[in-house]
Amino acid sequence: MPARAALTEQLEIREGLEGLTPGRIITLYRRAPLLRPVDDPERVWRMFENASLVLTAWHERRLVGIARVLTDGVLYSYLCDLAVEPDVQGLGIGRRLIEAVLERCKGTELVLRDSDISSGFYARLGFTRVPNAWMRRA
Ligand SMILES: CC(C)(COP(=O)(O)OP(=O)(O)OC[C@H]1O[C@@H](n2cnc3c(N)ncnc32)[C@H](O)[C@@H]1OP(=O)(O)O)[C@@H](O)C(=O)NCCC(=O)NCCS
Repeated sequence: MPARAALTEQLEIREGLEGLTPGRIITLYRRAPLLRPVDDPERVWRMFENASLVLTAWHERRLVGIARVLTDGVLYSYLCDLAVEPDVQGLGIGRRLIEAVLERCKGTELVLRDSDISSGFYARLGFTRVPNAWMRRA
């Protein structure tokens, strides 16, 4: 595992789909693990093509993290997915991706669904829990 300082220095955050393939996305999500329906590669790719913002984190040409966002650029942004390779979790990659998302979605409210294991991460990054969320499958 690379040292935190070295990794931070060498980490590259990219915007867009460059370097991504459905296979790379699926592998990262399964390893993280990020529980998403990723059995159908064509569907996964549509999820990415239709997103407003895709940010990827690279360390020495290796894909180590992904953030995917839907945003109207004015009021609301929704963080759909955030995943970091397990062997480099805890080294600041998730924070860098969130900072890059916040920079690009400035002025909007960034909302997301968390899981029991990731809620501490969002609390640490200054997110506040909202009690008035509703959901219905369309
Ligand atoms: C959650 C996840 C994206 C965090 O990314 P990461 O690169 O490991 O996190 P970072 O190293 O950037 O952590 C940033 C800070 O949050 C803290 N943190 C990270 N995960 C945490 C957790 N689960 N609970 C509490 N604090 C946490 C870190 O200690 C760090 O604090 P520091 O800056 O004071 O040192 C990553 O662990 C992951 O991919 N998990 C599996 C998939 C997942 O749960 N995704 C989110 C779905 S909603």
